[in-house]
Amino acid sequence: MKTAICYYSRHHGNTLKVLEAMAPEGALDLIDVTTRQTVRLDDYDCIGFASGIYGFEFQKAVVAFARQYLPEGKPVFFVYTYGGAKGTGAKAVADIAREKHCPILGEFSCKGYDTFGPFKMVGGIAKGHPDAQDLENARRFYREIQESCTGGSET
Ligand SMILES: Cc1cc2nc3c(=O)[nH]c(=O)nc-3n(C[C@H](O)[C@H](O)[C@H](O)COP(=O)(O)O)c2cc1C
Repeated sequence: MKTAICYYSRHHGNTLKVLEAMAPEGALDLIDVTTRQTVRLDDYDCIGFASGIYGFEFQKAVVAFARQYLPEGKPVFFVYTYGGAKGTGAKAVADIAREKHCPILGEFSCKGYDTFGPFKMVGGIAKGHPDAQDLENARRFYREIQESCTGGSET
């Protein structure tokens, strides 16, 4: 099974840490949505979208990427990290997935070190996250995604 995760991770690279923990579990391509490239998501069995939460939602570039490149009917899942208030989480990308009749396999989220705005004055919040337990949970989530995606494509 071949999976791509299209991601945006800038604040402290928290989301990327989670994705890099998942990567050894199986054939996984990580696609930074901000780099110019020709993208063919048709070749993948399953597509993930991942982002830090900024202003209570997914970064807009990830949402725009999903709108432009997500193929109709492709199984999807979502991954995100947040400092303390996840807001609408993956809702914007999930709405696009539903419009494109893509089965939603699940979502994983955990806290990520946050020094945005006033939090910087107090040394940040969610210090140390994602931690070893978060990364183990992420790996387990990805194994389950692989199982459900493989099961789905074989029936
Ligand atoms: C501009 C900005 C806005 C943020 N807004 C939120 C927010 O609304 N809710 C929240 O829980 N965390 C918020 N955070 C914290 C990030 O979601 C958190 O640190 C996340 O792990 C960042 O992911 P990244 O390191 O992969 O970019 C914000 C961070 C930044 C820089």
